[in-house]
Amino acid sequence: MATTTTREMPASRVAELIHGEEERFRQARPRSRKLWTEARQVMPRGVPSSFQDASPQPVFMEKGKGSRVWDVDGNEYVDFHNGFGVMVVGHAHPKIVEAVRRQIALGSHFAQPVEDGVTVARELARRFGQPKWRFTNSGTESTEDAVRMARGFTGRERLIKIESSYHGHHDAVMVSVEPPPALMGPPDAPASVPQSEGIPAAIVGLTSVVPFNDLPALEKAFARHRDEVAAVIVEPVMMNIGIVLPDAGYLAAIKDLAHRHGALLIFDEVKTGATISPGGASERFGVTPDLIALAKAIGGGLPCGAVGGREDVMGVIEDKRVVQVGTFNGNPLTMAASKVTLLEILDDKAYAHFDALAETLQGGLDEVIGEHELPYHVITLSARGGVTYRAQRVRNYRDYLEIDKSLAYLSWLYQCNRGVMMAPGAEENWTLSVQHSVEDVQRYVDNFAEMAKDLSS
Ligand SMILES: Cc1ncc(COP(=O)(O)O)c(C=O)c1O
Repeated sequence: MATTTTREMPASRVAELIHGEEERFRQARPRSRKLWTEARQVMPRGVPSSFQDASPQPVFMEKGKGSRVWDVDGNEYVDFHNGFGVMVVGHAHPKIVEAVRRQIALGSHFAQPVEDGVTVARELARRFGQPKWRFTNSGTESTEDAVRMARGFTGRERLIKIESSYHGHHDAVMVSVEPPPALMGPPDAPASVPQSEGIPAAIVGLTSVVPFNDLPALEKAFARHRDEVAAVIVEPVMMNIGIVLPDAGYLAAIKDLAHRHGALLIFDEVKTGATISPGGASERFGVTPDLIALAKAIGGGLPCGAVGGREDVMGVIEDKRVVQVGTFNGNPLTMAASKVTLLEILDDKAYAHFDALAETLQGGLDEVIGEHELPYHVITLSARGGVTYRAQRVRNYRDYLEIDKSLAYLSWLYQCNRGVMMAPGAEENWTLSVQHSVEDVQRYVDNFAEMAKDLSS
């Protein structure tokens, strides 16, 4: 991390650069704009998921191969977005193409178990240290099922979540995802703020909220709701407000605290699972929770998810106390792709490759930050990483609120306009793939250097 950086950027210069970059962005994407206009006639906001409606306009994609993607206007990008962190295998990986092609010719859906599912569950058990697994089709379903299992196992209803963690779009966790400062309440007892209309107040009332990296606030929440809490759900590394690392010992302490109060610990490893190490945050930080929710990277690009846990906790499904079902769970195409992803692509060599690329990014970006005395810092965790636009470490949402989001937006525009596709939003997170090269990641560093120079001039 750069430590001696102090220079603030004048807002007028940032605004001027944003204006120019937005113009350039729109001019290079007329077909996307046209499709968006048409799409708005049949889809709210003209996109299939509201996350895809990002300023200045959505980018409609045509194809991907290796580390690259192309939009409908023919613009080519190195893909740092990677489908919100799914495509760590890269696009159209020959082994995935072959596995899916082979399976689709043999039938794409049975709603009956298949052999590949057994292999995948066994591999997840090996990587994550949880003996039993069930499949889902998304991160949302995985956290939803984990919460229901925790409630069934403990016979309690209350959930504690971290302020500003995103765990998908089901009601119990769509609470204080991005609470407005005026509504968020004091840090030692944050308010539970619904993220959307349409979420029953009774459900919101069952979700308590605490800031990340704040054990006293968690202790207070347990004290306020003695014998009520079924589980604490956490992203072990927060990855939806940039990247926020847990303090040393924090994850182990949450587990202790939860167990002392008869509650379970759920890790939402939808983003960290199989990306920051083979066994995700559980392996990297050496803390094994009671339940783990997975999705994204484990499926090689097909819609997938999994929930795994302790023998006795998963036993609530075994003895039919908790229902966990889904027409597409363990779908043969998904299982074929997942098996190849986990057993043949994301091997030790793949993680060594991610680490080497991360080192190039960290070194290159730190150098630019140092040279221009910018008050930013970089965090890399194997296939994941990002720039935070403040010098000091961010420990929770309230720190994150202090960051000037216009810099992240400017960076997003600079990268997209110069051939690096980033995920939309101010979070400035990247995901690398096994098919990315040093030259690919150097492009990000070069673009960042150009922005730094323009900001400084
Ligand atoms: C940490 C985390 N959990 C859950 C989800 C929800 O996953 P999905 O979009 O597959 O439902 C996301 C999505 O980005 C996520 O980042």
